[in-house]
Amino acid sequence: MIRYHESTKTFHLSNGKISYLMKILPNGVVGQLYFGRAIHDQEGFDHLFERKHRPMTTWVFEGDKFFSLEHSKQEYPAYGTTDYRQPAVEVRQPNGSRITDLTYRSHSIAPGKPRLEGLPATYCEDDREAETLTLHLRDDLLGLSVDLAYTLFAEHAAIARSVRLVNEGALDLHLTHAMSLSLDLPDSDYEFIHFSGAWSRERHMKVRKLEQGVQSVGSARGNSSHNHNPFIMLRRPGTDETHGEAIGFSLVYSGNFLAQAEVDNWDVTRVLLGINPFGFDWKLAPGEAFQTPEAVMVYSCEGMGAMSRTFHTLYRSRLARGEWRDKPRPILLNNWEATYFDFTEDKLVAIAEGAKKDGVELFVLDDGWFGARSNDRAGLGDWYANTDRLARGITGLADRIDALGMKFGLWFEPEMANRDSDLYRAHPDWIVCTPDRRVSHGRNQYVLDYSRPEVVDHIYGQMAKILSEAKVSYIKWDMNRSISEAFSGALPADRQGELFHRYILGVYDLYDRLTTDFPHVLFESCASGGGRFDPGLLYYAPQGWASDNSDAVSRLKIQYGTSFCYPISSIGAHVSAVPNHQVNRITPIGTRANVAHFGTFGYELDLNKLTEEERVLVREQIAFMKEYREVIQFGDFYRLQSPFDGNITAWMVVSPDKRTALAGWYRVLNEVNGPFRRVRLQGLDPDLCYRVDGDGGHFGDELMHVGLITTDSAAGECQPDERRSCDFDSHIFVLKARP
Ligand code: DGJ
Repeated sequence: MIRYHESTKTFHLSNGKISYLMKILPNGVVGQLYFGRAIHDQEGFDHLFERKHRPMTTWVFEGDKFFSLEHSKQEYPAYGTTDYRQPAVEVRQPNGSRITDLTYRSHSIAPGKPRLEGLPATYCEDDREAETLTLHLRDDLLGLSVDLAYTLFAEHAAIARSVRLVNEGALDLHLTHAMSLSLDLPDSDYEFIHFSGAWSRERHMKVRKLEQGVQSVGSARGNSSHNHNPFIMLRRPGTDETHGEAIGFSLVYSGNFLAQAEVDNWDVTRVLLGINPFGFDWKLAPGEAFQTPEAVMVYSCEGMGAMSRTFHTLYRSRLARGEWRDKPRPILLNNWEATYFDFTEDKLVAIAEGAKKDGVELFVLDDGWFGARSNDRAGLGDWYANTDRLARGITGLADRIDALGMKFGLWFEPEMANRDSDLYRAHPDWIVCTPDRRVSHGRNQYVLDYSRPEVVDHIYGQMAKILSEAKVSYIKWDMNRSISEAFSGALPADRQGELFHRYILGVYDLYDRLTTDFPHVLFESCASGGGRFDPGLLYYAPQGWASDNSDAVSRLKIQYGTSFCYPISSIGAHVSAVPNHQVNRITPIGTRANVAHFGTFGYELDLNKLTEEERVLVREQIAFMKEYREVIQFGDFYRLQSPFDGNITAWMVVSPDKRTALAGWYRVLNEVNGPFRRVRLQGLDPDLCYRVDGDGGHFGDELMHVGLITTDSAAGECQPDERRSCDFDSHIFVLKARP
């Protein structure tokens, strides 16, 4: 798949779906020639390396007014040797210089994909699944060696990239920019799409035209954040779900990031993705190495839908890991919105009993079970049961849940401490704070300094004890504040710029140890909902709580936005009580389930408090999910109508054999005397005849090209009363191929 043409010094990475072309430029810098749909191979593509004399630029070679890095597309650009754009790499040197000059020395091509030490990354199960090209670059003056790694997957229109920098010189170097990916595209006729928001309105799709200048999203909060996601997309104007070019850029990382597109004054677009250079300063002493996180780029010429499905398949099967990766996920009930902090053991068991009757498989005890935790001012850091509430500890409660025939899950927030905790009283120096300054709180809590191995060890010890003693088969790992007053008491002055990254490495280390030592435990990540919903955590936790907003209408946008990069099997989605606790909205229980079904399904309420009619619906919902979760969580997902465009949302999943499909249809506000409506389905076999909700049958081509009639689809089925249609209506069409 990866070819090198010596005579023209050209690399061609191609798997029949995509091509990626690079060339070693006259001064040894690696240039970028093309990324897009697969093209024929040739000995050379030198004609794609355009050179032109332009006034006011600077030139690399004496007597040559045609070769300038300012006008060359590059792979890992640096500032200051004729390029003036934002760089991928910058190194501060002992004499104050920041100039680097990295040129090609050699390369290697190997089957498979090497692991990234200490970092989450996509992987292969068999070396035939991918090939990796490593370009060895060097700056001899600094003794800095840089390896650019490119893995091309045989079956996916995807390339994974990362960079390793090694100080082979004699002097200390400081990395101030070490991006994971830089890509120079030849024009700027793109829309820049990002998924931004805030707590309870995560990953809302934002679209803007690329313009000359810099446009970016990122995080400086310590977590990837609710505010922006480490995923951006460039698409050609007119690209939609099924047609046109789209390129997705995703960073496999959970901390401070930058995702940026800079359009220069000749309309070349430079995409940069990696650790946010803001505040980043990594000391690379002689002999030390730095590994960047991985970035994944996916190309599609068949619209955004195909791009998303490439990410879904790759991330679901070759980023997520462990026993739960390919298993349908248990239907759970989480007590948070049912009780908040107000529970006793008997109350929890009563909720679990009710849930068991209706078919729930896993009972999850959320916040409030440990230390002195009866409100959010105490207890974080003390991961042992509060025996006032749970007389026989977690073991006792877990045994009672087990006796009901259910699995038991437990909430932790391992990265935090309250001042009112034994942990803080014993180790006040373990929190992130700046000497002699006041320290800010978030939700009355402080961030433990996970850059310190002894902190990670201590929390591991507490968590491992519980997991070894009690029957716990699921952990919800929460994280409820961003870092402020960033400083580590354990790092010297010239390494303080390493704290944010070292913190995340500590988080990954704890995740790695727990998932290795307790492989049967299903982890769900959470950060006040979706504050760290990123590919980095997907490597350890195959599912994540997508948002604290559990309202079905709000969830349409959140889950739709999330689906651009993340597989349905990763999206935690639950039915909660009405009026909804976040937005006060009253939606039918059927619609709440119809939205939550497209995720890892569960409940966030006390089912015993529902009416008997509602309980009947709940039992049907659970039976439905058990029947179809395999298709939903592991099938192919198609977006049909966007909640960002109007009143109606539609999406669907199709089984790999295309014989079963489910199409979710949602209408926010009811209409009076509205138009006739259809939705065109996708992904079906045109030649198969599908019964829709058990009707006589329609061929796949009719359903995809003519559409499915939805005019009155939802009438009256979403709630127990007899109303014919209502606000917040919905319906899931079940399509089954006739034998
Ligand atoms: C924030 C989470 O997102 C909620 O689901 C819940 O676990 C609370 N924290 C508990 O404090």
